[in-house]
Amino acid sequence: MSKHIGSISEVKGDKVSFFLNKKSTLSFGQIIRINSDTNSFYARVVNAQSKSTLDTGEQLREAEGRENFGPYSCYKNIEAILFLEKRSNKIRSPTFNPNYMDRVYRMSVEDLKVLRLAGELRMGNLRSGEHTLGNVGINIDAMPRMMGIFGMTGSGKTNTELMINAQLIDQSPRAAGLIFDFAGQLLTGKEIGGKGLRNHPLFFSKVRFYNTKEEKMRIGLQTLLPWKLRTLFPDIGYPQSRLAKELHRRLGKGWIEEARETYIVKGHKGVADIAGYSNKAVIEALMSKLLHLNPTLFPPSNYSFVEDVIVNISQGITCLVDISGISSEEQRRVVCLTATGVANHYKKMWETKYEDWKQLPTLLITLEEAHEFLDPNKPKTIFSNIALTYRKYRVGLNAVTPRPSRINPDVFAELWTKVIMKTELKADRGYLTKNTPYLEYSDTEVKMLDIGEALLISEPKIRFAVPIKVTHYPKYLESKRRIDYNLPASKPLDEMDGNLKRILEAGEKF
Ligand SMILES: Nc1ncnc2c1ncn2[C@@H]1O[C@H](COP(=O)(O)OP(=O)(O)O)[C@@H](O)[C@H]1O
Ligand SMILES: [Mg+2]
Repeated sequence: MSKHIGSISEVKGDKVSFFLNKKSTLSFGQIIRINSDTNSFYARVVNAQSKSTLDTGEQLREAEGRENFGPYSCYKNIEAILFLEKRSNKIRSPTFNPNYMDRVYRMSVEDLKVLRLAGELRMGNLRSGEHTLGNVGINIDAMPRMMGIFGMTGSGKTNTELMINAQLIDQSPRAAGLIFDFAGQLLTGKEIGGKGLRNHPLFFSKVRFYNTKEEKMRIGLQTLLPWKLRTLFPDIGYPQSRLAKELHRRLGKGWIEEARETYIVKGHKGVADIAGYSNKAVIEALMSKLLHLNPTLFPPSNYSFVEDVIVNISQGITCLVDISGISSEEQRRVVCLTATGVANHYKKMWETKYEDWKQLPTLLITLEEAHEFLDPNKPKTIFSNIALTYRKYRVGLNAVTPRPSRINPDVFAELWTKVIMKTELKADRGYLTKNTPYLEYSDTEVKMLDIGEALLISEPKIRFAVPIKVTHYPKYLESKRRIDYNLPASKPLDEMDGNLKRILEAGEKF
């Protein structure tokens, strides 16, 4: 057993203070163990004070170098908050507290096992002061309990997304990911060491990539049934919905194209004639919405890539949807339509084909810019619905945002796994610490975190804030390749594209 680093000086409720031995070091947030008779307690460091036993006059004389009062006259006093108790190998919330002069130790690898911090989806390592100890991660069953990654720009959120989704790919077909990539970073790992999901050894068999520049990412107008309009236009009113339904009933699947043509040629009267409905304002409001749909993303066809996404996810194939390069309004439309389609599929399967539903992979939807979709001051989207009610269908949400304070508190409370990274903005820090259990003393700590450092909470398994260092994705790939796959590095995509092109050209000659 390692040497103790201090001894308890005072205990009050769940707060303990201890003297730190000379030459021992600790840091804010570090987890320590206190041995007390046959029990152990685990606590987090929340405060430190340097004090001396000298009176002011003696201190002055010592500071001026006129007198020396010996090495034991000053001491470091540490405050920590108890969060767990171990009693005959059972772990629980503290039922009591340690005694005066009980000894304090640093965390060891054994403690890590006791606290059961490892998981199928490994995020990184436990931080203990300057050192990192064993793996910390969450299990797949934590995904439908919803999660969130919070931290300012540059704190390491996208890297954490890569770590989690890479391991979902490893777990296929038990689990799958649906990722909305707003910045176009995850495929190639732009700004994350140049390694992205396409460098994952299973990329070609277990991942589908969609991007707005390609034909395969289109949503045909004929697939836009009237009930989907609310997803596209959250502010659509009841009269417009009714008008849409009527147009669809009379014109069939080509309703949008036909109504648009009529409107352009004959104006609102032409549409009124088709629908048997004559309110000019309502007709104009609906038609202006339909006319402003981006013609590239929404061509007049009956193909929708959402169907393709559903088929792939059902087979455990992770879908990466790159929506960089289109307007934020269009991003919102694509994201909501896709998520609604996939989530509804899970729900419908659960309701009508329960046995088949059991075969579906547990799904995690990664949503960057989550504050734009979960803001209580904006119209509700499918995502608040997913967070609040889709647990039983095994659909999980991973809400990623630098602005947690803009997330609806009801939704925030449902995110049982939280990865909290460096956050400087006071409003966001306050929101995080106020609304997350076990974080009430960690305000300063959240501000001081370094890139890639985080506090992890994952209820019910991890019921306290674990300080972790998230693994850098390129490093993870390296170790993974060595251990698991024993594969040589995959060829870059461009090179493969080149080969494909040559094969195609050769084919065309015959
Ligand atoms: N755990 C980590 N270890 C080392 N470097 C990291 C780690 N996490 C992120 N980085 C680096 O920090 C930078 C910002 O990370 P990123 O994940 O893009 O942050 P965010 O998405 O929060 O803006 C990137 O250059 C990335 O490579
Ligand atoms: Mg990012």
